[in-house]
Amino acid sequence: MLLPLDVDRIRKDFPILQRTVRGEKPLVYLDSAATSQKPTSVLDAERAFYETANAGVHRGAHQLAEEATDAYESARRRIAGFVGAETDDIVFTKNATESLNLVAYAFSNATAKAAHGAEVDPRFVLAPGDSIVVTQMEHHANLVPWQEVCAKTGATLRWIGVSDDGRLELDDLDSLIDDTTRVVSVVHQSNILGTVNPVRRIMDRAHAVGALGVVDACQSIPHAPVDVSALGADLVGWSGHKMLGPTGIGMLWGRPEVLAAMPPFITGGSMIETVFMEHSTYAAPPKRFEAGSPMVAQAVGLAAAVDYLTELGMDRVEAHEHALTGYALERLADLRGVRIIGPMTNEDRGGAVSFVVEGLHPHDVGQFLDDRGVAVRVGHHCAWPTCRRFGVPATTRLSTYVYNDTSDIDVAIEGILAAQNFFGV
Ligand code: ALA
Repeated sequence: MLLPLDVDRIRKDFPILQRTVRGEKPLVYLDSAATSQKPTSVLDAERAFYETANAGVHRGAHQLAEEATDAYESARRRIAGFVGAETDDIVFTKNATESLNLVAYAFSNATAKAAHGAEVDPRFVLAPGDSIVVTQMEHHANLVPWQEVCAKTGATLRWIGVSDDGRLELDDLDSLIDDTTRVVSVVHQSNILGTVNPVRRIMDRAHAVGALGVVDACQSIPHAPVDVSALGADLVGWSGHKMLGPTGIGMLWGRPEVLAAMPPFITGGSMIETVFMEHSTYAAPPKRFEAGSPMVAQAVGLAAAVDYLTELGMDRVEAHEHALTGYALERLADLRGVRIIGPMTNEDRGGAVSFVVEGLHPHDVGQFLDDRGVAVRVGHHCAWPTCRRFGVPATTRLSTYVYNDTSDIDVAIEGILAAQNFFGV
């Protein structure tokens, strides 16, 4: 199969893909939905920053501090450009989980402050009778924080169900998101099912009832061209390590007016405007949400990742993965006793393909594949309620990226067949 990306050339940029595992077996990395591998340019950018410009940013009057600040803010500009955003509308966090918690805490913090007479934006104040809407295919990072908000404020959690073929059940959208709804937070592309959700439609409904809209874009921004403002959301969170960047950096994009109205999450140095013994006032976004020493080297590394992806072309990245996903779906569907958990067709679907093998526990499948050098993820993928919805304790998940081709899928398929033979199922 002719793929849009030159995988042989790309693989040379990833040192880890040159190594062998489990007794000299070539590494077949099919776990990029968990974390992607990093090209040399990202590793070099981080190292060069530490070797030449490391210093505290936004403080200090020396040359290094100036250069480090420039490197940090230039990274923000390039990362913002990658998702069609204005620079100051991007907040750096430590990961997507922190981005989503930052949003959830805006609600519980505002509610707690309002109870003590503080002036807060009423959009963030919740009470019993209010509802928060998520979906049944959320990663725990976009579910548990909202459960916590409900427990603290008395609001009720509702969710959009998932159909047998792994799509959102949207027939009842208008009754589920109603005039009690204050926030709607949904995943763009499911990390377990691979489904790409019609977030624009859901965000439009949220806005029709005056609710705020949040999107978890962790699995979409690394894999397809995404203009954050075109999603129709007020706030969008994602992480750097799934898009060829370093661990330890996530992003939250927000509509400027919404970010400006949000109370801070983590407080301390760098996020203040003035501080007195009795009280403090806070800086404008994005600084308001970046307390403490920020992730400067990680931002610099992520900017190099963004440059690398831009050079490949996100349209081609998307087309490449679409072709690989179609191939994986076809090959898995041909296997006896294999059930795909998620959409069986390649429309509105990303490259995370989960499946179960009749008669085998997913962990046994994972171990068998690992013996052959194939890295996949097994388990509930931090989406336990989604597994429950499909009546499975766990799945095996293949997930691809720019450095995979069909031969990787073929090795995984051979491994599944070998596991079936070995266990006699
Ligand atoms: N969210 C990551 C995954 O799906 C960790 O594996």
